[in-house]
Amino acid sequence: MLVTNKDLMVPARKKGYAIPALNVQNLESLTAVAEAAVEEKSPVILQITPSVIKYAGLAYITALAKTAAQQAPVPISIHLDHGEDYETAAKCVEAGFTSVMIDGSFLKFEENIALTKRVVAIAHPKGVSVEAELGKLAGIEERSVEEKDAILTDPDAAAEFVEKTDVDTLAVAIGTSHGAYKFKTEAKLDLERLKTISRKIQTPLVLHGASSVPNWLIEKATKHGAQLSGAKGIPEEHIKQAIALGIAKINIDTDLRLAFTAAVREALTNSPKEFDPRKILGPTKQAMKEVAKAKMQLFGSSNKA
Ligand code: G3H
Ligand code: 13P
Ligand code: ZN
Repeated sequence: MLVTNKDLMVPARKKGYAIPALNVQNLESLTAVAEAAVEEKSPVILQITPSVIKYAGLAYITALAKTAAQQAPVPISIHLDHGEDYETAAKCVEAGFTSVMIDGSFLKFEENIALTKRVVAIAHPKGVSVEAELGKLAGIEERSVEEKDAILTDPDAAAEFVEKTDVDTLAVAIGTSHGAYKFKTEAKLDLERLKTISRKIQTPLVLHGASSVPNWLIEKATKHGAQLSGAKGIPEEHIKQAIALGIAKINIDTDLRLAFTAAVREALTNSPKEFDPRKILGPTKQAMKEVAKAKMQLFGSSNKA
């Protein structure tokens, strides 16, 4: 059943679990995530980026996501991830997404507020949730104290931002980053900052760049030829702590990509005579489904549908 991010995240924040927001790109990833949600009895957010819209086409990817949401006996939201401008957000609202992110994190504070308000003004009348971002995602190591403060989310600014924009959910920067290479040395998140933000605002919070880059996936992919040296993610223990401190949506793309890549490499290496796309891509779906189910268990969303 089709619901909004707000429908899913308000109870999640209250009850101390998080909704997996899983990036999907095609039929395999989309059905993998939807089937995982059904088997885990978990709510889930299907996330689609502007670059996926360019790759797959808005009509195709929306039709796939709507089909999944309508068929599934669990609540599913269709969300624009990292909406880059007003026009993209408006198109997704029009297409039937139930949530859109407007990512003004690269703008000045007042400009981010103005852009977010414009998106809220078209989304809310249609019952669509809006996620905004404050602070810039990037690792915190090797930055000076002043640099860190300029980049990580300022708790007072977050309180002012949600009040002025009426945004439904807020992505915060506490030291995570996108991709498979998050830390050069030991993993570090600014959980004290998250605690302060959570004390100041009741708005459900979002953690981007939260893949764990598990060893077993790196080993499986590299065994079949992938080059991923130095890859490092967010330890699962840190994820649990962040949920306890108010994170209600956790974005995962990289771990699904790694699962895809490991499975496709394994299929091609083990069956050099195979050329049926279904035999090559079928195992990728199974591999992504396993990762999706593990996230639902870790985030505490299993059996919350
Ligand atoms: O933050 C989102 C993604 O990990 C980047 O996705 O390559 O589909 O734009 P993209
Ligand atoms: P990862 O690269 O850590 O999976 O983060 C994905 C993300 O934040 C998508 O918005
Ligand atoms: Zn992100």
